[in-house]
Formats: sequence, C-alpha cells, structure tokens
Amino acid sequence: MSKIFQAFSHPIITVDDYPGADVLADRFYEKSMQLMKDFPNAGLISDAWHSGRRASSPEDIKQHGFTSYYSENLTRLEEFDFINKAAVAVFEQYLRVVGKADAPIRVGNAWSSVYGRGHYIPEHTHPLSHLSLVFYAAATEGTGQLVFENPAIANFQHFYPPEISWLRYHFSVQPKKGLFVVFPSYLVHNTEPHQSDALRVIYSANAQLEFSKLTDAERGQ
Ligand SMILES: [Fe+2]
Repeated sequence: MSKIFQAFSHPIITVDDYPGADVLADRFYEKSMQLMKDFPNAGLISDAWHSGRRASSPEDIKQHGFTSYYSENLTRLEEFDFINKAAVAVFEQYLRVVGKADAPIRVGNAWSSVYGRGHYIPEHTHPLSHLSLVFYAAATEGTGQLVFENPAIANFQHFYPPEISWLRYHFSVQPKKGLFVVFPSYLVHNTEPHQSDALRVIYSANAQLEFSKLTDAERGQ
C-alpha cells in the first residue's frame, strides 16, 4: 500500500457559508463608499501601491483604486463592529480547522480596498501578523483571482521548471461576494486585475497570536 503525505502544508481556508454574509457584504460596501468620501487623501493600489503613494485628487483614486489602510484602523471603530466580529469568528474557525483552537488571537488592524476596472495589488505579505483575512463585499463573477505563491518556491524553481514539476508554483482563489479567505500572513500573494466596471470591495484584517513562553519561575508564581 502506498500512501501520500502532503507534508509541510501552509493551509488556506475559504468560508462561503458565513451566516448573513450577504447582509454583511452590502453593509460593508456602503461603509466603504463613505470611507472613500471621508479620506480623499487615502492610499492608492495598483502600480502606485509599492511606493505607498496617497491620492492627491479624485482622479488618482479613479486611476489606481482606493485603500483605507493608511487612513483608519477599522478595528477601532464601533460602526465596523458588525464586520470585525465576523472576522474574529472566521479567524477562530481557521484555528479550529488547523487544530489550534485554544491559541489566543487578537485582530490588530483592518481596512477597506476598492478596485475599479483594471485595478490590482502587486505581490506582498502582511508583515508582523500571523494570520490575515479578506472578505469580498463585492466581486463580480470571474474577476481577477487572489494568487498565492508557494513559500518553498526559492528551493525548487531553479531545478523544476513547471513542465516537470509536481510541486505547485501557485494556488489561486476565485473571489466572490460573501466569501472569506484566511491565510498565514507570510504567504506572498497578489491580486489579478479586476475585470468589471462594477466596483470590487474588500475588507481585510490582520491578526496576531498572543503567546509568550513562560519560564519555570513564571509558571511557579
Ligand atoms: Fe494582501
């Protein structure tokens, strides 16, 4: 009998049946429209993203897309409790799925991103976080995928071109309205360009696991 072990995996989970996800999505969409009004100097995405450029006109946002990342931490605003609470529940679901249900987790920051046609986010990670999450408040069918890179790619791509490689280079998730995706924050990922004139609206959050190793002395106290 032969057995295969998918050893050393880096689990990504999707949740497409969160209770009331459609209502959350519509509410977050409206809130994001308000954030765009409130922060005319918000961060830009697409080709302006790596340089951390901010909008200096509405035209900038139209051209590159919007992120509230630099303007406001949504975890600190009561009016976003409805979605922050859902994020905590989905992070906890991830921890249950991977067998670490008791790991204490804290959501550190959250933000909104709004894409118009052609907008995208280049490759990045979410530094200083353990787990990250996205929720699609609006995503038209077939819009650009969320693409993760195999974190071991540097070890194998030189000798295993895709034609002979059984080691996966990338893993993609198709966004759709109401879908949550949770992933380890160190995974390099990018989003492909949005393919519609209808806006794509995303809630993102970073979480940290709270842990410090106790010494014998501390345990005895
Ligand atoms: Fe990201």
